[in-house]
Amino acid sequence: MPDRTDVMEKIVALCRRRGFIFGSSEIYGGIGGFWDYGPLGCELKRNIKDAWWYDMVRNPPPGPNGREYQMVGVDCSIIMNPKVWEASGHVGGFSDPMVDCKTEGCKGRFRADQLNTTPCPLKPSKMAGQFEKCALTEPRAFNLMFQTYVGALQEASNIAYLRPETAQGIFANFKNVMDSTRVKLPFGIAQMGKAFRNEINPRNYTFRSREFEQMEIEFFCNPNESRMWYEYWRDLRKNWYTSLNIKSEKLRPREQGKEELAHYSCGTTDIEYLFPFSDEPQELEGVAHRGDYDLKQHQEHSGKDLTYFDDESKERYLPHVIEPSAGVDRFTLAAICEAYSYDESRASPEFMKFHPRLAPIKAAVFPLVAKDGLPEIGEPIYREIKKHYPCQYDAKQSIGKRYARMDEAGTPFCFTIDGQTKEDGTVTVRNRDDASQSRIDKSRCLQYLRDQLRL
Ligand code: GAP
Repeated sequence: MPDRTDVMEKIVALCRRRGFIFGSSEIYGGIGGFWDYGPLGCELKRNIKDAWWYDMVRNPPPGPNGREYQMVGVDCSIIMNPKVWEASGHVGGFSDPMVDCKTEGCKGRFRADQLNTTPCPLKPSKMAGQFEKCALTEPRAFNLMFQTYVGALQEASNIAYLRPETAQGIFANFKNVMDSTRVKLPFGIAQMGKAFRNEINPRNYTFRSREFEQMEIEFFCNPNESRMWYEYWRDLRKNWYTSLNIKSEKLRPREQGKEELAHYSCGTTDIEYLFPFSDEPQELEGVAHRGDYDLKQHQEHSGKDLTYFDDESKERYLPHVIEPSAGVDRFTLAAICEAYSYDESRASPEFMKFHPRLAPIKAAVFPLVAKDGLPEIGEPIYREIKKHYPCQYDAKQSIGKRYARMDEAGTPFCFTIDGQTKEDGTVTVRNRDDASQSRIDKSRCLQYLRDQLRL
């Protein structure tokens, strides 16, 4: 395996070469902090979002001591009434400390709290601010929300924001969901979608971007039970990553210190992953105990009653909220880093060991040669599998090259039709992870996949 820094370079190169991730608008020189997902990347991302929605919303596991709870979804607009962001605290306080470097030729802009890990543009062997010539200004607060205008006039009364998180759409719809469904506490509302932050220093590939996707749950519960539900979600969310092949030794749940907590939180555990670009694990997801901060704020600012009437205790109160908030792009990057494998003994050493649920392509069908009646056997097998799973058909190039392409895409199984197929009706199944081969009857390809993928 190449060493850690080389691994990251190799991963970035593979992602580009094979169409996982491209820089946004690359033909015009790109734009910092924005990324596009190519054909393989967008399937991978879709599989991640589908797995989250299925496991957390459609089919959530039982709660502590087998407690039942309901999960429902919403899909809210990206631009909301700007009062939402005043109530949430984002207009007043969603900022990072920023410094400028006045040195001629540099004129860099940095996050004041990340100088130790940001290379100086003039002397990259040193960190920002450490080179003798560096002349940094005093830190000042920089609000991360992207502003726009709604309507024809670009004036202050028309200012609106691209949402910096999906969570507030859920809080703003708490009453609508209560009134239009029969949910009872405890219950969760989930949403996935785009969020935007004008990060001062986007970096580490897609890790810190300016446009990204979140998968967020706001879980509403009785205040007396909020600690129990916080611990439940913290453990459930960590285990979700391991269920998708993220090695537990690379995952670290880290309880934030009091000084780190966001203004709304009375306790947060970051679920962190050891990416190859860093010595320390970095945040994949935050599980926050938000108390009644958000409902209280929105109740005050909107003037609408957001309390919940508890039929059992006959009490009326503001529920507490536990928020597991995950980044789609961060997990996509973690899944890519985790899948990246290198084995010198293989003809093509690089391969992607995705969990079968996440693999962009589940199978490929290869006639060994494009003649002798082999394509006529392969095509119907391909067409049958394609109705159920993403599958590719390829009859060109050497079989070794075709396997190598599928290995780089992370395809778990390839079915090869050869001379023996015509004699005994069997095909070769080739396994991505150990390159082993076995034979099964050609009529069993789809069932074999079903058994192996158990989707
Ligand atoms: N609603 C709470 C909230 O948004 P956050 O910790 O700011 O909390 C949650 O964001 C998750 O969103 C993070 O754990 C991360 O996975 C993802 N995320 C946040 N900022 C990001 C960025 N600039 N680029 C990519 N992902 C980001």
